[in-house]
Amino acid sequence: MTDPVLPPELLFGTATAAYQVEGATHEGARGPSIWDTYCRTPGRVARGETGDVACDHYHRYREDVALMADLGVDLYRFSVAWPRVQPTGGGRPDPEGLAFYDRLVDTLLEAGIEPVITLYHWDLPQALEDGGGWRSRDTAHRFAEYARVVADRLNDRVRRWITLNEPFCSAFLGHAVGRHAPGTREGTPALAAAHHLLLAHGLAVGELRAAASGQVGITLNPDHLLPATGSEADRAAVERARTLHNRVWLDPILTGAYPDSEEETWGPLADGSYRAEGDLDIIGRSLDFLGINYYRPIMLRDAPHTEADPARRTAADIGVEQVPFEGVRHTTMGWPVLPDTFTDLLVDLDRRYPDLPPVLITENGSAEDDRPDGSGRVRDRERVDYLRAHLAALSRALEAGVDVRGYFVWSLLDNFEWAHGYDKRFGLVRVDYETLERHPKDSYRWYRDFLAAHRARRTQEPTTPREG
Ligand code: FCB
Repeated sequence: MTDPVLPPELLFGTATAAYQVEGATHEGARGPSIWDTYCRTPGRVARGETGDVACDHYHRYREDVALMADLGVDLYRFSVAWPRVQPTGGGRPDPEGLAFYDRLVDTLLEAGIEPVITLYHWDLPQALEDGGGWRSRDTAHRFAEYARVVADRLNDRVRRWITLNEPFCSAFLGHAVGRHAPGTREGTPALAAAHHLLLAHGLAVGELRAAASGQVGITLNPDHLLPATGSEADRAAVERARTLHNRVWLDPILTGAYPDSEEETWGPLADGSYRAEGDLDIIGRSLDFLGINYYRPIMLRDAPHTEADPARRTAADIGVEQVPFEGVRHTTMGWPVLPDTFTDLLVDLDRRYPDLPPVLITENGSAEDDRPDGSGRVRDRERVDYLRAHLAALSRALEAGVDVRGYFVWSLLDNFEWAHGYDKRFGLVRVDYETLERHPKDSYRWYRDFLAAHRARRTQEPTTPREG
């Protein structure tokens, strides 16, 4: 397969997140986050691993920026750790915490790489969790204050801001499935968490706009959902899942209204007790871009609820069951590799949401069974094939008229893959967790060559300049 040719103005980057790469969890005044607590709870994270050291990006960021400069990316998406900036989630910021992001931003700019900041990639200060966390409306207001603190410090140099990463995971994996921090299995409180995350997003958009912080967006992980059969029941199951995974986020943000399918999905759990008048106006504030993370499709069938009494269900107990895809390659995450569904998802979103803002693909990539050979080289052909095929799929979405402006590989480095710990490797660069040495994989070299060819076309072809 040859490399796809994408429009020269399309921007390329790599992405990471604070808790997955930084380490240095005891540096400065950094307070504990819900992920520090979750990692220390026996049985939660594979092998009891934690983000204490991770890739030590906090100390090795210069080396990592140099790797990115060599790679030739336009953009680097990283997240700011809220508990580093405000150790207890409020009040005066810790100067040492903010200074780290100052240095990182400056180092990126010196290397000609544009920083793209995610304000929240799941590491809620534990002190806020102790007061109710995302189930509490107050956390949304604390988040808006934190957003303003970071914007006031960095908006002279940062032009693209992402409020939240995948609030679906925070709300439902965190409070209904229990596979992410804080790790509870709740009903209405999980829906309250979803609403407060949305409110936090909207309030932060207001703060970022007031601080004149350039372009503002959010990163969601809408799923491409397929019914296992054409039966009425399986299709209805997909629609319930679409509400949980996609619509409860996209509808209020892009259309200013919650989906009418809430009742069918959650019954009495979605009692709206956590919503206040005016919230939807805040949540629906206009955005400059929508970040989309995409890895794989999901196939579903109708299934019995785990709990018979609707009032006692968790918010994830919506009467659906995942069905495996047969005859396709799966990554080490167990995710099927079906690149065409990436095109399908983007085209489908574009059709469903006429006001879809310009899209940034803020994450895409694969975890593979990378093994260094005798000389330490990682020949990760599967990852190259995955990325190539997904870029080709992206190109087809562009041809179909979807307005995509940028694409980020997840991830620059192998890193702490949440409940899976360190053995799921997504990096273009291998991290040796014994020595913390970085070793570019074959996929890194492939991406570098791909980007060099892409940049060469920028100077060859006349392009229509676009805002941003
Ligand atoms: C996404 C997360 C990111 C990473 C990838 C594999 O859901 O945003 O942190 O873990 O999955």
